Amino acid sequence: MSQVFDRVAGYHHLGEEDEMSTHRLSLLRVLHDESGIERDVTKARIDLRKRYSQLSDRSRTRLACHGYEGTIFTLTNTRGPSLASREEEVMSNYPANRRVTIHDLARFKAEKARFSALTAYDALTAAIFDEAEIPILLVGDSAGNNFLGEVDTIPVTMDEMIPLARAVVRGSKRSMVIADMPFGSYERSDDQALENAIRFLKEAGVHGVKLEGGIRMRSQVQALTKAGIAVMGHIGLTPQSVNALGGYRVQGRGESGKGVIADALALQEAGVFAVVLEMVPAELAEEITATLEIPTIGIGAGAGCDGQILVWTDLLGLTAKPPRFAPKYLDLRASMAEAVTKWRQDVASGVFPGEDHSFH
Ligand code: KIV
Repeated sequence: MSQVFDRVAGYHHLGEEDEMSTHRLSLLRVLHDESGIERDVTKARIDLRKRYSQLSDRSRTRLACHGYEGTIFTLTNTRGPSLASREEEVMSNYPANRRVTIHDLARFKAEKARFSALTAYDALTAAIFDEAEIPILLVGDSAGNNFLGEVDTIPVTMDEMIPLARAVVRGSKRSMVIADMPFGSYERSDDQALENAIRFLKEAGVHGVKLEGGIRMRSQVQALTKAGIAVMGHIGLTPQSVNALGGYRVQGRGESGKGVIADALALQEAGVFAVVLEMVPAELAEEITATLEIPTIGIGAGAGCDGQILVWTDLLGLTAKPPRFAPKYLDLRASMAEAVTKWRQDVASGVFPGEDHSFH
C-alpha cells in the first residue's frame, strides 16, 4: 500500500487549490475504502474515475504537471498482481473525458499496453462499446455482409457508409471513430481518395479513415495525411480484393511474408498512424509489430500485435458463420431467437400485453 500513500501525499501537495481540496477529501475517503475489503475495490475505482472526470481542466493540468495524471486509475494496480491485470493497465490510461487520439494509441504501444478495437455500425451499439472503453470503433465496410445483406464488402458505397459512420460518432463519446473507405472510393486517384475521405470527416464527423492495401496505396495515404487526415492502413488479407486473392486465405506465409513487411513499412513511411494486419501468420505479425514504430492491430494475426480488432457481430455471436479466428463471447443469435419466439408465443396466447404494458 505504500505507493497508495505516496500518491495521497501527491494530492495533499495539490491541496491548496480549492477544487482540489474538495476532491482530495473524497479521494482520500475512496482510498480508505480501497484499503478495506476486496469487493469494494471496483466501486472505489469507479468513484475515483468519476471524481477525476469532475475536475476542471486547470486541476487536471496541475495533476499532469506533478506527474499525477492518471493516478486515480493506476491506483487499482497498487494492490499487487491480483488486480494489476494488463487490461486494467490499459483501462487505467483511458482518457476520462475526451476522445482517444492517435497519441493515446502511440502511448499504448510504447507502454506495451494491448488495446482493443471493435466494429460498430449504429449509435446504439457504439454507445455500449464506448462505455465499455473500447478505444477504437471502426465503421467497417463489413457492414456490407453484416447489415446490408451483401455477400461481401465489394458492393458497399460511400452513400451507405456515411449515415452509419455518423451514427457511430453520435453514439460514442470517448472512442476514436474510424470509417472504412469502401471499395471504389479511393483506388482511382489521390483526388478521389481525398474527396471521399473529406466527405467522411465533414458529413459523418469521423476522426480518421482506413483503406486497404500497402505499397500500392502509398500515394493515396500520402495525399490524405498531407491534407491532415488520420489514416489507418490494412494489409495481409484485404477483403475488398477477395476475388484477386482467390478467397479469404491467410496471407504472407513463407517468402510472401517479405511482401507484407514491405507493405507495412511503406504505409508507416507514408504516414498511417496504425495498421491492421488481417489473417497473417502470428510469427509474421509479431515481427512486423517489433519492426514498426506505429501500432499494429491484428485480426486473425495472433497474439503478437499491439492491439486486436474484431467484427462485433462475430464476437457477440450474431453472425451465422463467424471466421475461425473470432471467439464467441456471447450467443446473441440464440438469445435473440429465444426471446423473440417467446414473445410471439405470448402474443398468440394472450399473455402479452399484460396490465403492466397497458394504459387505462
Ligand atoms: O470492415 C471491417 O470490419 C474490417 C476489419 C478489420 C474488422 O476492416
